[in-house]
Amino acid sequence: MALRIDGTVALVTGANRGIGRALTEALIAGGAKKVYAAARDPKAVSDLVKKHGTRVVAMQLDVTKPAEIANAAARATDVALLINNAGIATNFGSAFTDASLVEGFRQEIEVNAFGPLALTQAFAPVLAKNGGGGVVNVLSVVSLVSFPSIVTYSASKAAAHSITQATRSHLRAQGTYVAGVFAGPVDTDMGKNVPMEKASPQSVAQAILTGIEAGEEDIFPDVVSREMGKAFFADPKALERQVGAPPEEAAA
Ligand SMILES: NC(=O)c1ccc[n+]([C@@H]2O[C@H](COP(=O)([O-])OP(=O)(O)OC[C@H]3O[C@@H](n4cnc5c(N)ncnc54)[C@H](OP(=O)(O)O)[C@@H]3O)[C@@H](O)[C@H]2O)c1
Repeated sequence: MALRIDGTVALVTGANRGIGRALTEALIAGGAKKVYAAARDPKAVSDLVKKHGTRVVAMQLDVTKPAEIANAAARATDVALLINNAGIATNFGSAFTDASLVEGFRQEIEVNAFGPLALTQAFAPVLAKNGGGGVVNVLSVVSLVSFPSIVTYSASKAAAHSITQATRSHLRAQGTYVAGVFAGPVDTDMGKNVPMEKASPQSVAQAILTGIEAGEEDIFPDVVSREMGKAFFADPKALERQVGAPPEEAAA
């Protein structure tokens, strides 16, 4: 199963900045008929609407708010491609003993796992009506292997990966293509504290669209993610030890 970007109607969550904004621009450049640019504050995408006219539609959508999700699905009845991109990382650098870890995890799970699940539930009938379409969940390499410095974010993204796999199975009968994007470090607000080589959001967005058009179910959109993906499939335990090693051992 694959999906053509040219002529499609997409909805991107978290479209106001980072990868979501780059995806919106790349979809338009790739010939998408319309992109619903969903954001908690729709004013934050007004420049995109100004630039692209009626091809970009601003939509208010906090992915943790059931009423806003229901409203989005009732309004955007022509969507064929749902991109669950919105995400947060609240506990970056927190100590494992930090008491706030659990509350941060609760917030991450709300946005990173419950959000895509609820959006997919709401849009599944819309996609079915529009010929099957596709759901693309922006995951992370940490969906495959937990990074100890971002333990709760890793866990939330692992949950989202698990949901993506089940979604693929549940929506197969209605002809919906489902992909997970296992991104590595990207140069966005979220990525700013990651001390690794980072891909640009534009190159990642383009690679995601290329993966969608090729019908890939597991998209590795940058150099670091491709290396980590290879290492994971070769020897998951070795990768776990490598990313879990104290910095001085990892450097050795
Ligand atoms: N950057 C990386 O290194 C990296 C690596 C792998 C995967 N990812 C994933 O890529 C996706 C995009 O991240 P990014 O790097 O572009 O991060 P970002 O620049 O921090 O952008 C995050 C986006 O998510 C939105 N968002 C947060 N909470 C939301 C909510 N409750 N409802 C709706 N939107 C919400 C933000 O909107 P506001 O402006 O309103 O906060 C913003 O548009 C995320 O799923 C992230 O986990 C990122």
